Amino acid sequence: SPSASYVFAEERGGMGMDNGYIVFFDSGVGGLTLLAECARRFPGEDYLYYGDNANAPYGGRSGEEILSLVRAAFGGICAAYPVRAAVIACNTATAVCIDALRAELPFPVVGVEPALRPAVRFAAGGEVLLLATRATLGSARVGRLIASCGSAAIRPYCPGDLAGEIEKNIFRLSRVRPSLPGGQFAAAVLGCTHYVWLKDRISAALRCPVFDGNAGAVSRLAQVAGLRPEGEMSGTADHRGDKTNVCSEKVQKMPEKRPFFAGSSAKKNEKAFYRLIF
Ligand code: DGL
Repeated sequence: SPSASYVFAEERGGMGMDNGYIVFFDSGVGGLTLLAECARRFPGEDYLYYGDNANAPYGGRSGEEILSLVRAAFGGICAAYPVRAAVIACNTATAVCIDALRAELPFPVVGVEPALRPAVRFAAGGEVLLLATRATLGSARVGRLIASCGSAAIRPYCPGDLAGEIEKNIFRLSRVRPSLPGGQFAAAVLGCTHYVWLKDRISAALRCPVFDGNAGAVSRLAQVAGLRPEGEMSGTADHRGDKTNVCSEKVQKMPEKRPFFAGSSAKKNEKAFYRLIF
């Protein structure tokens, strides 16, 4: 029950409202890739991960449905846990409802967006493939992002239900066969946090570097929540795209503080997280 979990949370950190959790939200396991990137750079913070796995994938739903699911999730989270900041670790939810969430929630809210501009700079005139869900590609927000890249050659493409396949097969990812377009691209953008689970395979299949928005979202979170990096930063992931490793990295060691996994899919997400970081 939420109240039992709350006692557990209090026992773990003894937190009050002032120093609550940094909450990572996704439709399911996708946002774990962003949590891992954040834990790598800021290992000393109190993280709470909530996946709405029972309702994933979000990508084929309407904007209204997505907003009401995210709202309901935050209603439950805020009733049970102290929150210091939230990361909408889901491109789809960011694309369709980040403005509404920012207006409603009483703490800073950071989203994740396709790293399109860094990829376009890197591609230097070559074609850029933008992979994202149907809802993301159909959103006004991502429409504006594409328009802001001017005359750059961008090919938006929805790889079917790839997020749903990853969600279902998270412990046997070799079974997932991403459907990717043919052609030669100079760079590809993973505009969905679920796809980051397959970044190496997608990069190998397309024979081009892949970009994700995770490093950018973590930098933004650091600004709004005043985070300071602790320990060593391996620092080769670079969202400005001027290095070859432009995607978020695997974390090689256990974060100082283990994230707290909440909600009915907590066990699944926790198990997946520890697979992701080693
Ligand atoms: N991981 C999410 C994203 O970044 C959602 C995918 C989905 O639920 O369809 O878009």
